Amino acid sequence: MCGIVGYVGNRQATPILIDGLKRLEYRGYDSAGLAMLVDNGISVYKTEGKISNLESILPDIKSTCGIGHTRWATQGAPTTTNAHPHVSGNISVVHNGIIENYEELYEWLISKGYEFVSETDTEVLAHLVHMYYKGDLISAVIEGLKKVKGSYAAAFLCAETNKLVAARKESPLVAGVGNGENFIASDVTALLKNTSQVIYMNDLELVQVTAQGMQFFDFDGKPVEKKVEKIEWSLEAAEKSGYPHFMIKEIHEQVTSVNDTLMGRISEISGDVILQDITLTLEEIKSLERIVILACGTSYNAGLLGKYLFESLAGIHTDVDISSEFRYANPVLSKSTLVIAISQSGETADTIAALKEAKTYGCHTLAITNVVGTTLSREVENILYTRAGPEIGVAATKTFTSQLIALYLLSIYFARKRRKMDIDKSKSLIISMKLLPGLIQQILNNKEFIQKQAQRFSNAKDYFFLGRSLNFPIALEGALKLKEISYIHAEGYAAGELKHGPLALISNETPIVALATRSSTYDKMVNNIKEVKARRAQVIAIAGMDDTEIGKYVDVVIKVPITDELLYPILSSVVVQLLAYYSAQALGCTIDKPRNLAKSVTVE
Ligand code: M6R
Repeated sequence: MCGIVGYVGNRQATPILIDGLKRLEYRGYDSAGLAMLVDNGISVYKTEGKISNLESILPDIKSTCGIGHTRWATQGAPTTTNAHPHVSGNISVVHNGIIENYEELYEWLISKGYEFVSETDTEVLAHLVHMYYKGDLISAVIEGLKKVKGSYAAAFLCAETNKLVAARKESPLVAGVGNGENFIASDVTALLKNTSQVIYMNDLELVQVTAQGMQFFDFDGKPVEKKVEKIEWSLEAAEKSGYPHFMIKEIHEQVTSVNDTLMGRISEISGDVILQDITLTLEEIKSLERIVILACGTSYNAGLLGKYLFESLAGIHTDVDISSEFRYANPVLSKSTLVIAISQSGETADTIAALKEAKTYGCHTLAITNVVGTTLSREVENILYTRAGPEIGVAATKTFTSQLIALYLLSIYFARKRRKMDIDKSKSLIISMKLLPGLIQQILNNKEFIQKQAQRFSNAKDYFFLGRSLNFPIALEGALKLKEISYIHAEGYAAGELKHGPLALISNETPIVALATRSSTYDKMVNNIKEVKARRAQVIAIAGMDDTEIGKYVDVVIKVPITDELLYPILSSVVVQLLAYYSAQALGCTIDKPRNLAKSVTVE
């Protein structure tokens, strides 16, 4: 998705903006551009493709004020003309989001004599602000944006004044506080190199940025008091640190990220889960009749394991809905429903819209998210941060296992409050969870073996991932990981469902990954493996170290260390992530930035 950076200060702006844009590359983009304030006005540079293309056309620009953008095409092809910034006279703009009343504004602006050069909706913003500009940029931006329906994070530069004005509505925007310099960005990772002091902007707020300071306003032009917050993420965490790809770095980081999600939330002594951020009262937890989980993609797969946990541990009926479907499905919700929105980025437009819809029914709300200060975190009553650190690879890895850990914690927490789990079970699960980082390290120590299997099957056209009960979500996640980064077609199936259709597709050319760790459905899973073996499929089983039988039925066994039956999904997740990573590597794919995909999907 699109990215924005802006700078005003005493240093040369170009390298700062280019560095910021590079740190936003992971979000996905197809063109990039800069608008720089120079002696005789604004200079704009933009290109299709990579930021390196943009760098190659940049002259030596003397400027201490500018805005930059990476565009992920929505309206209008990914061409140089459609790239941002867009210009109207003395005004330049970069924009993330969608202008829903574009057609109407376009006709109106044409009637006022404006000419359009691009196919983008963003160009209306440049013309609107130009039309209302009478010497005060902030007033012009307010007037212009009042005409707009839709979503935006937008930053404006005016040739006549050494300042930026930026505004947000339903698209992320954060201001960075420096010393004699200030920044704006659509994502904190673009700011980390220069400052850890940030101010998160709310919907319908504007900021006026100069080298000396920042003033925040609402759309009536009234000043708004804002709080400076410290970003806990380090710059190093957002860099590759010697790994060839962010994805493999992030897979390795699960040794610490799982621990970070647990930290301070479990007590081995009392055997309980402590969730200080949860404001639901005991009475409210006891009277919960239903949980509805809203999420997309990998977060949805995490939600499916959440359903299993909430139902089996805490006895709460749980539904998991794809966010983009929920909103249009006439949901049935009540005040005794808890809606849990799961989103790594906290900015996924579908999930935010679904949550807003759910809130109209008066239900309790909770978010499981990885990024502090995001739109999602400000929409809910309760937040469980996953604390996995910045995830740059488009394929979610460490944030997925941290989401799962958060769901384990929450389900044990509810189970204890509702008296569905005794202290011995809770204690034993907590002790097993504490051991997970060491067990993940053991899997990583065996990564060469997993790499060999990935290479062996990397020419396959179709893969199937099979699992039952709590392994089913990991089968879906394994298939999603493989298809998104290696482009191998992959399907995740509940193994029992195979004979109801997909078995017709199984042959010796379809490798099967069978999630066969110990569980109540283990024997049934073995039967399903026999079914696919009978169709001559090659089977890679993921099984526990103690399983001496499974090798008889399959071609390859990837062993995972022994843990509590409930916790195997965490370990199996690491294996399917490695399989996907090494398959994509064998095929020479652009692992961290798969084609057509974006890290944070901020449009519906
Ligand atoms: O930021 P979110 O967790 O809300 O993102 C949801 C999906 O877009 C995301 O999980 C996507 O499926 C990933 N590319 C998966 O690796």
